[in-house]
Amino acid sequence: MKRTPLVAGNWKMHKTGPEAVRLIEDLRKASLPAGVEVAVCPAFTALTDAASALKGSPIRLGAQDVYWEAQGAFTGEVSPPMLVAAGCRYVIVGHSERRQFFGETDVWVTRKVQAAFTHNLVPILCVGERLEERDAGHTDRIVTGQTEAATAELSAEQLSQLVVAYEPVWAIGTGRSASGEEANRVIGLIRRALGRRSSGPSAQTRILYGGSVTPDNAAEFFGQPEIDGGLIGGASLDGAKFAAIVRAASRARENM
Ligand code: PGA
Repeated sequence: MKRTPLVAGNWKMHKTGPEAVRLIEDLRKASLPAGVEVAVCPAFTALTDAASALKGSPIRLGAQDVYWEAQGAFTGEVSPPMLVAAGCRYVIVGHSERRQFFGETDVWVTRKVQAAFTHNLVPILCVGERLEERDAGHTDRIVTGQTEAATAELSAEQLSQLVVAYEPVWAIGTGRSASGEEANRVIGLIRRALGRRSSGPSAQTRILYGGSVTPDNAAEFFGQPEIDGGLIGGASLDGAKFAAIVRAASRARENM
């Protein structure tokens, strides 16, 4: 099963609207290779500027979070239809920074995944263990549990469209990445967990690695058979670095 790789930039709390436009212009000039899907996920306030700057480009737009209700008295929240109207195709759900700093639970993450699909957004579901969990030997249980919780209600078709990002929490923004081999092992485990729900679709689910991916180590991840691209934080804020990571994904695909 050949899955189209996805390389998505998670810009986190960086870039105003005009800054987002400049970065997108850099990416458009970089003439990215075909065969790899590319997405950028700016902050909410930069989405409409980013959507305008992306017009006519194959680069997709994503958001970094979403609330599960379509509208209502939920001060500060942003709904799935609002993201669709702003031009989003993807939305990151359950990023470890949301879980860690903002108290998001598996129950919330599950609702957000459902709500995204209800409104035709594709969720990029993030799962991953913390350092103490890895050290205690609980990685497999944590990652499988997060995956099963968030996907329990999905239909077979939704499972096949879902994107999962395996992001070991200790590797995010730390410069300390997992080895390609270990990331591949855990991602295989995630695919098997999805396969217990529905085996055909799980072969189509794209599962990305995220956590300190750089132009220097990207090939190590993208060369692994289970890894279908990357969710890129720090390195996605630099057009040249992000383009280099996209090219690494393209080369890896050609060599498979
Ligand atoms: P990083 O972030 O590439 O800066 O480690 C990845 C992420 O949090 O998605």
